[in-house]
Amino acid sequence: MTGSTVLRARGLTRRYGEDDGLVRAVDEVDLDVPAGQALAIMGPSGCGKSTLLHLLGGLQRPTGGQVWLAGHRIDTMSERALARLRRDSVGFVFQSFHLMDELTAVENVELAALLAGRRPREARRRALHLLDRVGLADRAGHLPSALSGGQRQRVAIARALSNEPLVVLADEPTGNLDSAATLDVLRLFEELRTAGQTLVVVTHDARIAAVADRVISMRDGAFADDSQLAGTVHDGRR
Ligand SMILES: Nc1ncnc2c1ncn2[C@@H]1O[C@H](COP(=O)(O)OP(=O)(O)O)[C@@H](O)[C@H]1O
Ligand SMILES: [Mg+2]
Repeated sequence: MTGSTVLRARGLTRRYGEDDGLVRAVDEVDLDVPAGQALAIMGPSGCGKSTLLHLLGGLQRPTGGQVWLAGHRIDTMSERALARLRRDSVGFVFQSFHLMDELTAVENVELAALLAGRRPREARRRALHLLDRVGLADRAGHLPSALSGGQRQRVAIARALSNEPLVVLADEPTGNLDSAATLDVLRLFEELRTAGQTLVVVTHDARIAAVADRVISMRDGAFADDSQLAGTVHDGRR
């Protein structure tokens, strides 16, 4: 694979159960995500979006097919090596934020960098810079319980950027937010895209397409549509 392909999947499959209870959550998916692409994956609840994202980010193992992250085949990788690759290469953003309640905003953001072995002063400096970038410089010392949902998600995005990941994977990042907070988060993703951050955002919010270069629609574990929105070849949706 070329150095500029951040994610690659071939025949990627994840099944649950068997016989009558068999669910093809992800069904023989082929995918290439080049560096710098902002990809939105859309589709109804239950179509396999979260499962696909987890397979791509090495949070879950496929039951079939192959997947590469940053040029490394991850479906056969040891748990230990995979954990290290995830830490260094992937920033995850979840619908329910997954912040540590007892840590302040800046502590949440710097934690990943500390775990990756960065020096405390450098980790703190970078965490403060990232909080500033997401518009929360004045909330650095706040606990998550003192922040709104939108602010929590922006802290989570800052945290996802902490180790300068090759790719940010976001699962319904606006799913728990009101519309004003949703716009804040969308604006942030737009900025990340403009900065060249490779992004995969799973959502059923059509507005996310506004921040994507490419939109894939999923149905029943497979790709029903794959549209490049930037450049000359697009389907007129923007
Ligand atoms: N741990 C699991 N055990 C059994 N079925 C599962 C499990 N996780 C997901 N599924 C099923 O796989 C399908 C895809 O789920 P999911 O990836 O969560 O979809 P989405 O994120 O698009 O809502 C659904 O039918 C779901 O019920
Ligand atoms: Mg989901």
